[in-house]
Amino acid sequence: MVNKRIGIYPGTFDPITFGHLDIIKRSLKIVDDIIIGIADNINKTSLFSISERSELIKNDIKSAFNHNSNIQIKKVSGLLTDFSKKNNATCIIRGLRAVSDFEYEFQMTGMNFQLNPNIETVFLMSSDKNSFISSNFVKEVHKLGGDVSNFVSQNTIINLDKKNN
Ligand code: COA
Repeated sequence: MVNKRIGIYPGTFDPITFGHLDIIKRSLKIVDDIIIGIADNINKTSLFSISERSELIKNDIKSAFNHNSNIQIKKVSGLLTDFSKKNNATCIIRGLRAVSDFEYEFQMTGMNFQLNPNIETVFLMSSDKNSFISSNFVKEVHKLGGDVSNFVSQNTIINLDKKNN
């Protein structure tokens, strides 16, 4: 029997957007199982706690996928490469939105490769309509009263409302 290919899709997901969901959907064409790894980026301050982010992801996954038994959500503690190894992942999946993402992703991939050369990073280009979404913009636009319903789910909007009131 052929071993299952497990991909890790890591990110801050503060909060998850339609752009992330699109990458998750498309990743399932190249891996059998996907683990959404919620990590804290030490250079960012998060609005939602890890458990709140996990609940938001769980809710969106349930609405977006009929069969979701091949999608898991886990917290990444420590290094992503160690987390990937512990979970028997064959690859790390990242979305690329614009050329501006490239340099940062290039450096991160290089560092991860030095830490564990057995794990490859695979990039998927964001689809056009998602290429300008970022969690920070969603939070800023929502805070200033803008409509973010094209970027995040209604459930996420309700939770953003709670944070802003
Ligand atoms: N559609 C829409 N938006 C997208 C997207 C897509 N397909 N892909 C990424 N984004 C956005 C995110 O919303 C996020 O926006 P923000 O900056 O406004 O929050 C931004 O692009 C990039 O964030 P994300 O994909 O969440 O990555 P990150 O840079 O915040 O996280 C980690 C990077 C978590 C993967 C990295 O910090 C990590 O691996 N941490 C674990 C510790 C570790 O191993 N460190 C060493 C790394 S070398």
